[in-house]
Amino acid sequence: MCGIVGYIGTKKASPILLSGLSKLEYRGYDSAGISTIEKDFLSVMKDKGRVENLSKIRGIDKLEGTIGIAHTRWATHGKPSKENSHPHQDNSKTFSVVHNGIIENYNELREFLTKNGYTFYSQTDTEVIPNLIHYYYSQYKKDDMQNFLKAVRKACLDFKGSFAIEVISKLYPENMIVVRQDSPLVIGNCEDEKYLSSDIPAILPYTRDFYLLNDLEFVVLSKDKIEFYDKDLNKIEKEIKEIEWDAASSEKDGYDDYMLKEIYEQPAAIKNTIDSKISLDNKCEFNELNFTKKYLQSLNKIYIVACGTAMHAGLAGKNTLEKLCRIPTEADIASEFRYRDPIIDNKTLCIFISQSGETADTIAALKLSKEKGAKTLAITNVEGSSITREADFSIYTHAGPEIAVASTKAYTCQVVLMNCLAIYFAEILESSDDKLIKSLKSDILDLPKKIKKVLECDDEIKKFAKKMYREKDAFFIGRGVDETAAREGSLKLKEISYIHAESYAAGELKHGPIALIEKGVTVIGIMTDEELVKKTISNIQEVITRGAKTLIITNQKIDDKGFDKVIEIPKTNSFISPVLSIIPLQLLSYYISKYKGLDVDKPRNLAKSVTVE
Ligand code: AGP
Repeated sequence: MCGIVGYIGTKKASPILLSGLSKLEYRGYDSAGISTIEKDFLSVMKDKGRVENLSKIRGIDKLEGTIGIAHTRWATHGKPSKENSHPHQDNSKTFSVVHNGIIENYNELREFLTKNGYTFYSQTDTEVIPNLIHYYYSQYKKDDMQNFLKAVRKACLDFKGSFAIEVISKLYPENMIVVRQDSPLVIGNCEDEKYLSSDIPAILPYTRDFYLLNDLEFVVLSKDKIEFYDKDLNKIEKEIKEIEWDAASSEKDGYDDYMLKEIYEQPAAIKNTIDSKISLDNKCEFNELNFTKKYLQSLNKIYIVACGTAMHAGLAGKNTLEKLCRIPTEADIASEFRYRDPIIDNKTLCIFISQSGETADTIAALKLSKEKGAKTLAITNVEGSSITREADFSIYTHAGPEIAVASTKAYTCQVVLMNCLAIYFAEILESSDDKLIKSLKSDILDLPKKIKKVLECDDEIKKFAKKMYREKDAFFIGRGVDETAAREGSLKLKEISYIHAESYAAGELKHGPIALIEKGVTVIGIMTDEELVKKTISNIQEVITRGAKTLIITNQKIDDKGFDKVIEIPKTNSFISPVLSIIPLQLLSYYISKYKGLDVDKPRNLAKSVTVE
């Protein structure tokens, strides 16, 4: 979950590396460091804390090297400290390495290297990497670039786990070697400069031409050349990919925080996601898919597997898929799914939702489903991400880069795309009423306009946030699809405001949690389903009686029953109502976090893409 950057070219590397790191800080911000190749030595500067700290280290501005690697860390092995920060070097200081991922067998390797005379100075798994490279390299008789490459390969074949690695050496001041396995790494290409990064937005200011790497493809870079090798070091050719995102889409654009910008980008993000898929007069189109009626009829089950927010979108998707297609559908948490021996065969379709396309548990669940014979379909926001490379089929949310750790626009796009997919299936299967499909399509097409309307509640929500920000507990309740939005609202509040929040099916409250309701607790009720609204109102009455403050998000006309605040949102088909009901809750979490003076975009202990188990 760390971020890595690399540069090899004609300019001073350090400012480019620092700027890249600051864009990757959302991936981890416990410590940061850089290593550059100077005239006759490998410089390493690093410290705990954020990139800003690093940029203030004395002498960093004096670095002249035009080749360098850099890292921002989300601590896994060893606390945040200078010793545990990357880059790490081998004992002889010949190689510098940055690493994102986890070397699972590092204890064994550490023991082996210790027996062979190596000393370790950190508690990290990473420190075995440069030392093992050195171990293999020193077995060759002469200094030769091919031997450097062979040594990196040998070391990588010994590693179990995930890694994206950049290696530089004082012996080869013109080159860098990089490789990945189950951790992201992209290469940005310019004529006489090469940029490396854990993700695309960090290097978008320099290029839109990218190489995407597969597992265990080794790359030797010089400023004007890139050589690709497969696992056995046979030379291979790779195609360059032009990325559609532009640099501006990954800037704050006048907003105080990425999260607020991304909340406000939702109308456009949804429009981009549905464009070309949905129209009133034609069937739903997914050019990337070739599902036939026979295949869909053969399915005995659909699993939707994801983590966190993406899983909440999956729950909304399950609701539509089951209702429109009548195929039993389960939404499951990837970290549970992969270990619970799920019943899967070739009549199962497994759908994986992931904004980043790099979430370790989701990737593992996908691999497992493939092994068991299921067809796999990925829904991600990042083209070329690991999940898309593993899955049989991939479709995309076109939300643009999502930088804030708390997911907002990716969630609403995922809910919408899941609904489009359900319509696509239902139209092939002829399993649903035409009128229902047409009205759902029409409501989907209206979403961008309606989201703009919901965003007008910004001021009201800000005022409510002011009343609530000192509180310690909140409950989010709803029924049916509103319960799925309640889960997402609760997660948003927890992760960026650090207020303890729980979500419950409204009817469950009186089976235990109501014991916690008292003055000083806020209960947020979501009610968008005409059939269920009266029931949820009764549950809200029960908490008002016990002293709770209440906020209601609804598209129904409801009488004032002593609620502290009611936010009215436009009516829409209940399948897609989470897309509208979540927006006031995203804003609520945002403003509470601001009132508390917290770092909205980089909440404590979290990272944007969770590439460890
Ligand atoms: C969202 O606000 C969270 N930070 C988190 O739950 C996230 O949705 C989850 O880690 C899954 O990420 P992915 O969509 O990139 O797979």
